[in-house]
Amino acid sequence: DVEADELGLVGTALPPRRTTKLAVVGAGAVGSTMAYAALMRGAARSVVLYDINKAKVEAEALDLGHGIQFMPMAEVIGSDDIAACADADVVMITAGAKQKPGQTRIDLAEATIALVKNILPSLVEVAPNAVYVMVTNPVDIVTYAALKVSGLPPTQLFGSGTVLDSSRLRYLIAQYTGVAVQNVHAYIAGEHGDTELPLWSSATIGGVPILDWNAIEGHVPLTHEVRESIAREVVESAYRIIAGKGATNYAVALAGSRIIEAIVKDERRILPVSSLLDGYHGISDVCLSVPSIVGRSGVGERLQVPMSTDELAGLRRSGEQLRAVARRFGL
Ligand code: 2OP
Repeated sequence: DVEADELGLVGTALPPRRTTKLAVVGAGAVGSTMAYAALMRGAARSVVLYDINKAKVEAEALDLGHGIQFMPMAEVIGSDDIAACADADVVMITAGAKQKPGQTRIDLAEATIALVKNILPSLVEVAPNAVYVMVTNPVDIVTYAALKVSGLPPTQLFGSGTVLDSSRLRYLIAQYTGVAVQNVHAYIAGEHGDTELPLWSSATIGGVPILDWNAIEGHVPLTHEVRESIAREVVESAYRIIAGKGATNYAVALAGSRIIEAIVKDERRILPVSSLLDGYHGISDVCLSVPSIVGRSGVGERLQVPMSTDELAGLRRSGEQLRAVARRFGL
């Protein structure tokens, strides 16, 4: 090319760039909304939705694809062929049995452990370098089972855990105090489920420890009773939504997209994801959520968050219950 030569540009052409690829497994309410949220937030350039239901997955991808004009640039593919997930950077697993009104997440364990055993080996074969994020419930048990089945290092596979529950907690604290949710820093730790607990000792609003918070005029103080009621409301959130509309999908999808972005952009965000603990405050051999650093290589350091005696006891109890469930299913 003469012109390029004259400009001294010969040999400077860049090799084709590899773009970020996200594979979402399961095109149900959670998986489809997850793909939607990730596309809207520009979390990945290429989004693959995979499901065994060909008609459903192709329809979801087509519907999503028609909206790309109004989103940051991306491509979206729907497929019932697992090979479509090849070389993904992040694989998010949402497939599995759905909680019916009245069921707990743990009630789904048998079905979803079987599904993970069935699907994960072929996924790891086509996408061996992906970071795997489990979303399917009971997420802590499913994550533990997935680690055993896949043999992946515990940094490379973890669960969405209590990222969603923590956003529910922050939402409620914001409502009660009259402060923007973005200025509330508080975590739910433990099981993504009935034994989870808020870490009040380390929670802050605009740098003020929550336990020292003075109510703003027109708002109630965060007394012990109010905090207990907020904690209960967080646990009951999913039950309430499932009773009303059959599934939760929007907030979980946004929380999932947050996790995806932390990975692909190597943000080193502190997120309460569910990972295999090894001596965390004396807790080992169980997957549960504690504030952890999430980046390109997956889940890294777990923060040594200061905890009250009650919080530590609650976290240990949550871990013991999860271990008992895992044992019950032969894990
Ligand atoms: C949720 O917490 C059901 O785990 C799901 O929304």
